[in-house]
Amino acid sequence: MTTPDISKIFGFVPQADFAALRSEAEYANALLHTGEGKGSDFLGWVALPSSITPEFLAEIKAAAEGLRQRAEVVIVIGIGGSYLGTKAVLEALQNPFAGLQAERKDPVILFAGHTISEDYMAELVEAVKDRSIATIVISKSGTTTEPAIAFRIIKQEIEKRYGAAEAASRIIAVTDRARGALKSVADTAGYKTFVIPDDVGGRFSVLTPVGLLPLAVAGVDIDALVAGAVRMETATAAGVPFEENPAAIYAAARSALYRKGFKIEILAAYEPGLQYFAEWWKQLYGESEGKDGKGIFPAGVIFSTDLHSMGQYIQEGERILFETVISVAAPHREMRIERAENDGDGLNFLAGKRISEVNRMAELGTMLAHVDGGVPNIRIEIPQIDASSLGELIYFFEKACGISGYMLDVNPFDQPGVEAYKKNMFALLEKPGYEAATAEIKKRL
Ligand code: PA5
Repeated sequence: MTTPDISKIFGFVPQADFAALRSEAEYANALLHTGEGKGSDFLGWVALPSSITPEFLAEIKAAAEGLRQRAEVVIVIGIGGSYLGTKAVLEALQNPFAGLQAERKDPVILFAGHTISEDYMAELVEAVKDRSIATIVISKSGTTTEPAIAFRIIKQEIEKRYGAAEAASRIIAVTDRARGALKSVADTAGYKTFVIPDDVGGRFSVLTPVGLLPLAVAGVDIDALVAGAVRMETATAAGVPFEENPAAIYAAARSALYRKGFKIEILAAYEPGLQYFAEWWKQLYGESEGKDGKGIFPAGVIFSTDLHSMGQYIQEGERILFETVISVAAPHREMRIERAENDGDGLNFLAGKRISEVNRMAELGTMLAHVDGGVPNIRIEIPQIDASSLGELIYFFEKACGISGYMLDVNPFDQPGVEAYKKNMFALLEKPGYEAATAEIKKRL
């Protein structure tokens, strides 16, 4: 990954304002390492990549291999940070048309527990009825309702098909080391379990077994993913000067823009495989910064697709947006536009060009148009979409998020606001213990 190109923010933010944030960003980065900032119980992700041993990766791969041998379909159950990282990396690396391939060497990964849709669950169970299945259930708290419902259904399906003893070899739980209903269920039934460290919050957990186990099942090179993250851990370490620290530069740039009234950040990519990377990023920044009446609202777009839906607003709507583009230097495949005898579609001016060259010109043209329209631009380039680059990007965005959160003076590692809907839902569902809230809430409907 190259250092973020922030040259296109300077029409909107004076160079001096950005430079003035140098010490603030360096101090915020230092706090992540000294543990003297807010939410310091949740800093286990900071030195996580370099603490992952080859032995630990071997244990993950062995467990993954057990599921790969047993199942054509592995259902990964989880929500939020227990789901989005895996989904992001898989979508980025997998051939989007793999479903049409006659033969697969890797199991199909399906997701559950990220929705309470009855149709989704019923269709999922129906879709796998003639396939061998296994599941990985992931919940740090072990009490989240959405994955708990999905797990009850999938567990019963597995037990019905294979019996309790075999079911225990088709179910792996990733959860807290001691607490939560999932841990008790797993211990009682004798499932293999992996621990989510106490000091790593959900949205920072993709490089724990939360992400590593399902990604290994899917055949992703988790060694390369971790190696990429380790490189970025080194590149953003506490002693690295501001000018050389990509995470500090990005954090300071977005902070400078926010202070000038740019309250919405759009993460844009020109590769459809990065759509869920933007979803992961949205959770990371939304849950970390959106509190105390503050925070940049994170949105995601895939271009060119969304240039034909959101492009108008970005170009000419309210001027509170800035754009961060993940730019991919080279595709994996090569395809050229061929000359046509009869140039009926008028495209012969592109003859001989690779599609990626056209995509690159769309990217550069859009960047200039948006800057001209009043949208500051930050550009982050990766060489290719592969496990190593994604590992770098994951840690880069995590580190920058911690720095940004401290620069905003919030606790980037809690999410008290997520509880509000749960309280109402439990009251409406008449969960024991919510009697008073039930009576109260029913009057309001
Ligand atoms: O970042 C977070 O902590 C949350 O978004 C959680 O990941 C999400 O709520 C799922 O929680 P759990 O893993 O406890 O089921």
